[in-house]
Order: sequence, then structure tokens, then C-alpha cells
Amino acid sequence: MQIFLDSTDTKVIADLASTGLIDGVTTNPTLIAKSGRPMLEVIAEICDIVPGPISAEVAATTADAMIAEGQKLAKIAPNVVVKIPLTRDGLIACAAFADEEIKTNVTLCFSPTQALLAAKAGATYISPFIGRLDDYGFDGMDLIRDIRAIYDNYGYETEILAASVRNAGHVKEAAIVGADVVTIPPAVFSDLYKHPLTDKGLELFLKDWASTGQSIL
Ligand code: E4P
Repeated sequence: MQIFLDSTDTKVIADLASTGLIDGVTTNPTLIAKSGRPMLEVIAEICDIVPGPISAEVAATTADAMIAEGQKLAKIAPNVVVKIPLTRDGLIACAAFADEEIKTNVTLCFSPTQALLAAKAGATYISPFIGRLDDYGFDGMDLIRDIRAIYDNYGYETEILAASVRNAGHVKEAAIVGADVVTIPPAVFSDLYKHPLTDKGLELFLKDWASTGQSIL
């Protein structure tokens, strides 16, 4: 499973990318606004830090304008993925990008039929929003499960990118039900490896090792 960071904080991205465990980055207009920086500059910087897919979202709402914006974003760097909302115009733009071999991430997906249409439009990634569904009393993981079944039934190659992730439990469940990628807020990263029993076990091992008076080097 690939792990992307959902962030525009370039310092944090660089720090976590230095682990070698980050495969890509997703951004959205809210995260760009939070950065307080010009979008094109931030995306270019992120593309330099992480060589994997970097999603940059269009702000237009009509297909023609989305295509124009996406073509501009795609020129920032070869690893830019154009992020498009799951609307009728977004699906039209998605198909146009597929013809131009520009990679796409179709975002704001909340239903299996939306995901089906995104795959038919040639999306590179589909982004089901788990956390926002959970917030409304649905089970976001059911959506991932349904999309997995649909894509496998028909051999669609669109990758399922589990988004709106709130915790390590979401990452575990998304991996179990077969999401190809998960995009996580940076704060969730350490929760993927930290465990109190690991810390406790290591403390004991180090104490016992010290009592031997040995050194490996
Ligand atoms: C993904 O591409 C989105 O940017 C993101 O996961 C949205 O998450 P949120 O629901 O926490 O805003």
C-alpha cells in the first residue's frame, strides 16, 4: 500500500519524507489556504521534495476551465497529478486529461457510482472521503469495499486513494479492504509505528544489554 501525506507544510513533508516511507502528497484548496503561500510555488516545492505523485487541485467548476487550469498545473513538474472534483464537468475534464495522458485524482467521492464513473472517465486515482462519511454516521470503509469490488469486477485500473483519514485505524481498515493508497494528515504518521509495548520492550532490552557491559562495535 502506498502512503501519501495530505499536507502543504513543506517542512513537515520534508521531515517525514526523509524516512523513505512517503510515496506521494495530496493537497486541496483548504490546505493551500492554510499554507498562506502561492499555490504554484508550494506545489513546485513539494514536487522537488517528494518524487512521487503530487496532487494539485483545480479551482474552476466548468470542464473547459478545469482543463485549462489542469494543463497549467501539470506543467509545474512531471509528477503533478491534477485533482478534479467529482462533478459532471469534473468527469468530462477527467476524460480529456486521460486523452492527454495527464494523471488525475478525482476527489470528493462519496458513493460507489461516482467511483464507477470516474474509472470510466479514465481517472488515475479516485479519492473516497472516509472521515467525512463517518462524520455523517455512515461507514466510510463500506465505500472503499464497494469500490474495490466494482473495480475488480471490471478490471478498472483506477487506484483507490483512501482520503479524509482521521486515524491509524482508518489506515488499517483501508489496507484490509484493499485501498491502493492512503493519504494521511502528518499527525497520523507516528501513530502508524508507535506502540507502548514496543517502547516498554525496548527499555527492558536496553537495560539488560547495558548489564552485560558488551558493545557490538
Ligand atoms: C484528500 O485528497 C483530501 O485533501 C483530504 O483527505 C480531505 O480530508 P479532510 O476531510 O480531513 O479535510
